[in-house]
Order: sequence, then C-alpha cells, then structure tokens
Amino acid sequence: MSQTNNSFYITTPIYYVNDTPHIGHAYTTLACDVLARFARLDGKDVRFATGTDEHGQKVQKSAELAGIDPQTFTDKVSKNFRDLADTLNFSYDDFIRTTELRHQKACQTLWQKLKSNDQIYLDSYKGWYAIRDEAFYDESELRLNAEGKKIAPSGAEVQWLEEPSYFFKLSNWQKPLLDFYKENPDFIAPTSRRNEVIKFVEKGLQDLSISRVTFKWGIPVPDDQQHIMYVWLDALTNYLTVAGYPEIKNPDFKKFWPATLHMIGKDILRFHAVYWPAFLMAAQLPLPKRVFAHGWWTNEGEKISKSLGNVINPFNLVEKYGLDQTRYFLLREVPFGNDGDFSHQAILNRSNSELANDLGNLAQRVLSIINKNCNGVVPECEQKLESDNDLLNLSEQLLNNVRKELLINQAFHKSLESIFAVVGAANRYVDTQAPWNLRKNDLNRFHTVLYTLVEVIRRLGIIIQPFIPQSANLLLDQVGQEKNERNFNFFHIPIKSGIILPKPMPIFPKILLEE
Ligand code: ME8
Ligand code: MG
Repeated sequence: MSQTNNSFYITTPIYYVNDTPHIGHAYTTLACDVLARFARLDGKDVRFATGTDEHGQKVQKSAELAGIDPQTFTDKVSKNFRDLADTLNFSYDDFIRTTELRHQKACQTLWQKLKSNDQIYLDSYKGWYAIRDEAFYDESELRLNAEGKKIAPSGAEVQWLEEPSYFFKLSNWQKPLLDFYKENPDFIAPTSRRNEVIKFVEKGLQDLSISRVTFKWGIPVPDDQQHIMYVWLDALTNYLTVAGYPEIKNPDFKKFWPATLHMIGKDILRFHAVYWPAFLMAAQLPLPKRVFAHGWWTNEGEKISKSLGNVINPFNLVEKYGLDQTRYFLLREVPFGNDGDFSHQAILNRSNSELANDLGNLAQRVLSIINKNCNGVVPECEQKLESDNDLLNLSEQLLNNVRKELLINQAFHKSLESIFAVVGAANRYVDTQAPWNLRKNDLNRFHTVLYTLVEVIRRLGIIIQPFIPQSANLLLDQVGQEKNERNFNFFHIPIKSGIILPKPMPIFPKILLEE
C-alpha cells in the first residue's frame, strides 16, 4: 500500500465553521495551493484537499446561538470557506465537509478497526475540557486568569467534565511514536516544533477520551448510540476520507494514501503529530510523510481576535490590494514557520516595490522596446557573451532551486527570494547593457540582449505561476507562451525567435492608498 512517487496529496486543516474566514485560514490554504500548483506543473498527480470541520460542541453552541439547527447552520457557514477558497484562486480538488455521508462511513470504519484491534475501551472521563479548542487538558497544564478562572495554555477557558466515555489506548503508543519520530526526522517541521512534540511525548501519554454523551452533534459511535465520536477523531479522519477510505483496496487510496503533507498552524500540532499518527498506527495504516506547523499572524503587532475587533478579512485584502498582491505578500513577508505580522504599510511596500517596480517594470520596459523597435517580434539571438550566459544560467537554475525549497523545505519566502534575485539581476542587466544605446550602434548586440531578456522573463513567468497564477498567466500571454505549454517541461525550451508578441500591458498597477 505505498504511494507512487508521482502522486502528491496535500491537505489543509478543515476549519471550524463557526468562525468567519480570516487571514490565518487563507494563509494555510494558500501555502497548500502553491505546493499543489507547483506539483501539478511538475507533472505530479495531485490531490489537494480542504474543507470544514462541522461537528462538536463548539459548532453546536454556535448553531444554538444563531437559533437554527446545526445542519442548517453548517450548510450556511461552510459556504464562507468555499467562497474564500474561490476568491483566493485556490485550486483545491476536494472540499470535504465532515457532515457528509462518505465521511461518516470512514469514521465509523476506522472506529471499528481500532476496536477490533483492541485499542478502545469504555470507562468514564473526569477532567478539564476547553470547548474553544475542543481539547482535554491535564490539571498541570492550566493556569488561573485574573478572574480566577482556569485557563488552558491556548488561552481558552476550561470546564469540568464527568461522563461515560470510550478511551483510545494512547498510552500504548509512546514508544512507537518516539521511535517513529527518530526514524523519520522529516516527519515534523520545523525542527523547533519537532523538538516540542518529542518533549511532550517523552513525558508520557495518557489514554485519550474519544467519545461524548452529553450532546448529540457528532458521528454516532458504532454499536453504542449513546455516544458520539470526539470531534478531533472525527476531524482528523477527514484526511483518510478524501483518499477514499474505507476502500483501501481501491487504486485511488493506494495512490493517495499516505498523504504527502499535512499543512497546519502551530496551534493544532499535538493533534496532528501525536494523536493522528497513534490512531493510524493502531489501525495499521501508513503514516503521512510530513506535518508542517506554520506560525501565527498578528495584526499590526496585536493578537488577532474577534473580541479585539482586529480580524483581518481576506476578502477585503483582495479587494483593496489585489489578489496576487495578497498572495505574494503573505508568502514573501515572513519566513515560513515563523510568526508574522500583518501591516498595511508592509503589503503596500511589497506590492509596489517588488511586484510593480521590480517584476512589472522589467517586463514592461523590455516588452515595450521589442514592441517599438522590432515590430513586436522576438529578435534573433546572435553571438552570446558571458554577461548573457550568466543571466541565462542564473534563471535556468531557478526551477531546481525552487523545487527544493518548496517541495522539500516548504520555504516559500526563500523560493520567492531566489526568483526575485533573478528579477534584480535582469534589471541590472538591462541597465548595464543599455539596449537603447545598442539600438543605435550594435544591432546584433541589441537583438541578443533583448532575446536574453525575453527568455528570462518567460522563465520567470513559468516559475512564478504557483504563487501568483493570474498575473503569471498575463505575463506568459505577453511573451507568447502557448496556454498548453506552461508546465515545467517547457521551462527549459527556449522562446523562438520570430514569434510575434502582443502589445505589452502593465500587469501590476501601483497601489496608491491612504492609511
Ligand atoms: O483547529 N495565524 O480549526 P480552526 C495563522 N477544526 N494561521 C491561523 C491563524 C493565525 N492567526 N488562525 C487560524 C481547527 N489559523 C480544527 C482543525 S484539522 C483535522 C481540524 C489557521 O478553524 C491555522 O492553519 O480553528 C490553524 O491551524 C487553523 O487555521 C485552525 O483552524
Ligand atoms: Mg482554532
């Protein structure tokens, strides 16, 4: 049951429907979108899944507050996340909702499997629970807030629970998990997060409560209708559902499970790096290849929260700054893995200086010269000099560099840095070669320099597609790259002299905005 090298299955967390989509949700899915697009252009068979987490006490409470039944409520609000995905041009292949029948089947089958493997027993839970996190906490993890209330490390208030519950024998899995982390050093990224997980597991694991009886909004436990499944067991299983579980003999499942990468925020690392692999081991299923927990966004230095009223609405960002400007900013501003701060000034600077000035102007000035002086025809490449070869070689290396930074390290910022290093080199080349002078005194050089530049712009257009797909397409239109010749096979096939380019048009408008 192993994955072929050519398949690539990437997942986002499934988001709680009770929240309105914000910059944090957009960020995680964007990161996955870039990887999925890159892998597709690289010839991989990709499944990119996102969706919504619709069960549990938190969602039930929100539905009650809205005065509607939970199914109607989730039908309505799940759509907000689909709209987000569409507005941000996310290329998801599957949008899973945990209220779907296929998912109920997957969860119940997994439960049966765990049960028949003697991993589940009935007892009762006495302890702390935070509805906001849908998580159980040990007394030792809690602190008192100013009002004397018990608070989880996440800041969520906890409440005391006492109820019959099925338990998963998590304590059995301490050693296998530690062995697994050791044998698979790339399983958890970044390294700081990996160390955090190892420390947590080394302290010992308690069996995990995996069912509830005091409310109804969840997937029924097979053979015991009193209980519904703990929402995290339900939610994590979505990754299997999307791969076609429980049909494990199906070619689809063989192709896409185990997942290549679960992308998450650091808030839900324990669920993905401890509970999830333990469930899978206990069910004798292969483990995902990697879990990447990225950092946290703040707004102008402040924690983002509904109560502070500083939630950044990604729909507004797109409207105000532009789609690709928003996508570019989010991935360029912060080293992926670190926490990041949103600021109006920062997105404005990045859009205007890097997209509009550096990349936009490079294309605009080169293509205008060709348009005005060569009738829009890509000139002949005559005798190349060292300076031409240097720039061509630099751009040629981009594909391998970016592939490594993205697919192996998930270093979006470094990928963009290396792309924009070539943009910078190309702009300097324009300045030093001064084609406007060559036009008067060395037509051969004039043509070779323009050919070199248009070829470099073409490569930049191809490589930047995963990040800013819409703008990259406009750029590729302008260098005459056929629509069906834009995957990475074509990166290395140089532009042909003699083709006619359309009239150039600016791609990245300068954004002029008042604070
Ligand atoms: O936890 N900065 O859903 P959720 C960066 N349903 N990322 C952020 C963020 C911020 N300020 N805020 C949210 C759940 N995120 C569960 C997941 S998966 C089987 C179940 C992103 O709606 C980040 O990816 O609370 C984080 O992990 C996720 O949203 C949490 O989304
Ligand atoms: Mg959350």
